[in-house]
Amino acid sequence: MRRYLRVVVLCLACGFCSLLYAFSQLAVSLEEGAGGGGGKPQAAAASWLAGGGRGAGRGAGSAGPAAHPGRSDRYSLKMQPVERVHLAVVACGERLEETLTMLKSALIFSIKPLQFHIFAEDQLHDSFKGILNSWSFLQTFNYSLYPITFPSENAAEWKKLFKPCASQRLFLPLILKEVDSLLYVDTDILFLRPVDDIWSLLKKFNSTQIAAMAPEHEEPRIGWYNRFARHPYYGKTGVNSGVMLMNMTRIRRKYFKNDMTSVRLRWGDILMPLLKKYKLNITWGDQDLLNIIFFHNPESLFVFPCQWNYRPDHCIYGSNCQEAEEEGIFILHGNRGVYHDDKQPAFRAIYEALRNCSFEDDSIHSLLKPLELELQKTVHTYCGKIYKIFIKQLTKSIQDRYDRPPKER
Ligand SMILES: *[C@@H]1O[C@H](CO)[C@@H](O)[C@H](O)[C@H]1NC(C)=O
Ligand SMILES: *[C@@H]1O[C@H](CO)[C@@H](O)[C@H](O)[C@H]1NC(C)=O
Ligand SMILES: *[C@@H]1O[C@H](CO)[C@@H](O)[C@H](O)[C@H]1NC(C)=O
Ligand SMILES: *[C@@H]1O[C@H](CO)[C@@H](O)[C@H](O)[C@H]1NC(C)=O
Ligand SMILES: *[C@@H]1O[C@H](CO)[C@@H](O)[C@H](O)[C@H]1NC(C)=O
Repeated sequence: MRRYLRVVVLCLACGFCSLLYAFSQLAVSLEEGAGGGGGKPQAAAASWLAGGGRGAGRGAGSAGPAAHPGRSDRYSLKMQPVERVHLAVVACGERLEETLTMLKSALIFSIKPLQFHIFAEDQLHDSFKGILNSWSFLQTFNYSLYPITFPSENAAEWKKLFKPCASQRLFLPLILKEVDSLLYVDTDILFLRPVDDIWSLLKKFNSTQIAAMAPEHEEPRIGWYNRFARHPYYGKTGVNSGVMLMNMTRIRRKYFKNDMTSVRLRWGDILMPLLKKYKLNITWGDQDLLNIIFFHNPESLFVFPCQWNYRPDHCIYGSNCQEAEEEGIFILHGNRGVYHDDKQPAFRAIYEALRNCSFEDDSIHSLLKPLELELQKTVHTYCGKIYKIFIKQLTKSIQDRYDRPPKER
């Protein structure tokens, strides 16, 4: 009799436990469904609850597409939280439209959900919120808006030394203390491949690498740093900081070699003395400081090929990025204002095509034909000569993301 009683009690206990588990899972998914709504007032959220969540959200969106039947099972009902890709940008001055186009390009091609960290001058905040909230039907991203800030310790002292907008990115590891890894990009970046692809390079870091950037130049004869810099710089031609992948946990932990003291310094302690020392010799602001830091700590940098940061420099003096011609252009960087003037019409055409398109599958597909026509007109220009590479890349990215059966996406 006693034995039976024990068995019964055991069964009851098991049943109770599984009930508890079921309820806790339900609570978790409900919380996710509520998004960050109750969170910080600055932050709005779009959660990516699968199935019903996506479907319900879609109708609410302003761009309300004719619901694509397959798309909602892209994130099937999994209980584990999906790893988020953290993307940061600093927007000052007239950069609102450009920044939004960059974020849109990230959303169009990416697979994992994205978490945007947008540092912007106060007068831009309302516009960012307006547009990003109207995109929340996508259910694949959330965002936080921050003012341009310095780390709270020594803020006053930082302010005396640094121009806030120019140097914000240097402080990201100290401001976003809870974030493990981050992709920082300039506002004039366009993703032509999923952000997931560059994010996956984090896993390729060896044990000493903490950040990844592309070379400033491929061709030393036209390089800037090797011809003009009055400070140390990384490698043969320096690095470009427009696309910078960081393992910030490692950046925060590392003690950096430097030419100011014989002791190694933490990230938070190295920036100010570095600026004091090189203030009069630097031309490109914080990018120069990064070059100095990695000159002294070369084992800490992962250098990725030029196709992850493809600039007009790679095509205007002839073709200087072999990898792009072979494998494609993954991230376009329209520096020197080329999206907004007539100097590089090929760059401008791609920018405008992405700026103009909406998130509907049809709209994304139909950007290709007119863009190809537009690019053909630029074939007499230096960067226009390689327009077929642009089209090939975009066609492939769109096919990968939108033309495969939903189950495989
Ligand atoms: C975005 O989503 C992540 C993961 O669910 C969450 O940790 C984070 O707090 C959210 N951010 C905002 C601003 O809601
Ligand atoms: C960043 O580095 C830390 C410490 O080495 C590691 O635990 C973490 O997994 C790394 N993050 C990524 C995304 O690889
Ligand atoms: C700054 O540039 C000047 C002129 O090239 C040079 O003499 C000086 O050593 C540089 N300063 C530092 C800190 O490298
Ligand atoms: C990691 O790679 C960098 C760059 O190739 C190299 O300098 C460094 O020695 C490597 N670190 C280890 C631990 O192998
Ligand atoms: C984008 O829209 C603008 C204005 O609406 C138009 O003039 C331009 O031709 C369009 N460009 C592309 C590439 O679609």
